[in-house]
Amino acid sequence: MSGSTLPSALVISLLLVSLLPGPGAAQNEPSIVTSGEVTIGDPALPITLQCNLTSSSHILTYSYWTKNGIELTATRKNASNMEYRISKPRAEDSGEYHCVYHFHSAPKANATIEVKAAPAITGHKRSENKNEGQDAMMYCKSVGYPHPEWVWRRKENGLFMDIANNSGRFFIINKENYTELSIMNLQITEDPGVYQCNATNSVGTHSEVTILRVRSHLAPLWPFLGILAEIIILVVIIVVYEKRKRPDEVPDDDEPAGPMKTNSTNNHKDKNLRQRNTN
Ligand SMILES: *[C@@H]1O[C@H](CO)[C@@H](O)[C@H](O)[C@H]1NC(C)=O
Ligand SMILES: *[C@@H]1O[C@H](CO)[C@@H](O)[C@H](O)[C@H]1NC(C)=O
Ligand SMILES: *[C@@H]1O[C@H](CO)[C@@H](O)[C@H](O)[C@H]1NC(C)=O
Ligand SMILES: *[C@@H]1O[C@H](CO)[C@@H](O)[C@H](O)[C@H]1NC(C)=O
Ligand SMILES: *[C@@H]1O[C@H](CO)[C@@H](O)[C@H](O)[C@H]1NC(C)=O
Ligand SMILES: *[C@@H]1O[C@H](CO)[C@@H](O)[C@H](O)[C@H]1NC(C)=O
Repeated sequence: MSGSTLPSALVISLLLVSLLPGPGAAQNEPSIVTSGEVTIGDPALPITLQCNLTSSSHILTYSYWTKNGIELTATRKNASNMEYRISKPRAEDSGEYHCVYHFHSAPKANATIEVKAAPAITGHKRSENKNEGQDAMMYCKSVGYPHPEWVWRRKENGLFMDIANNSGRFFIINKENYTELSIMNLQITEDPGVYQCNATNSVGTHSEVTILRVRSHLAPLWPFLGILAEIIILVVIIVVYEKRKRPDEVPDDDEPAGPMKTNSTNNHKDKNLRQRNTN
């Protein structure tokens, strides 16, 4: 992405900001000239914001700079020509800047300078690991101005497909520089995969991915099931071994085992006795 790389000095487009331009706006309304909007490029060159108070019928008491409505420390002076320099601008320096003039017994006046930058996603989850039936939450937060449009996508067959808010179990919350995707009641067959958040503004675009893993309900039981399986296998081995061992102990005559055996030996004895008797 190549934004405007022109130094601000060249981009100075003298914007005449006439404040409170009511129908009867007289010449005694303060007028402010600014150096105009700038874009933090790549590579980022130093930028200088300027405001000149070109006419005012009131006595200036002090002036200062604000960024996104917050006063920048140590910028307060009694000066009608104001300058704010950012020597190493980064995406987080982008935003809405104001130069503000306070007057003796007159309303304050200000002018706006937009400092733009492509979005940069500065926070996201690399992975989200949940059990089926639970909810997953993924987020991305960004710097860059104007605030980006957010899109969530899911990789299907190698292509990222848009996820619509409120479609099925998907819910999306967007704030200016933050987005959140929630998936309710996770399904092990449908939901695991690669999810992408995409931030796009007028200057550029950036995206990051989160890998969602969904484990089976049984996952927490696996160690226990492993031990159980081991015990079952041991028992089976012992039983099989015992069953194989027993036939070896039985004598090779085809006589049935158990109490019958004693009967049969008795029979032999009886036979012998009978034989003896006959002798
Ligand atoms: C503001 O005034 C200074 C000093 O006269 C001048 O160098 C600068 O270019 C002016 N800036 C703008 C935006 O008019
Ligand atoms: C700011 O400067 C102006 C012009 O020099 C002067 O009239 C005014 O009194 C000063 N204000 C303060 C608060 O020092
Ligand atoms: C700038 O002026 C506008 C209109 O008077 C006002 O609503 C806004 O709060 C001012 N901003 C700052 C930073 O003073
Ligand atoms: C996000 O935006 C909010 C409000 O616009 C702001 O207060 C906050 O500092 C921003 N955060 C970042 C990381 O830019
Ligand atoms: C998505 O839908 C929810 C619930 O209807 C709503 O609260 C939320 O603002 C929507 N988000 C977006 C980005 O439209
Ligand atoms: C983000 O989405 C936009 C619009 O679909 C696309 O043009 C852009 O290439 C995407 N950006 C990234 C970094 O994937």
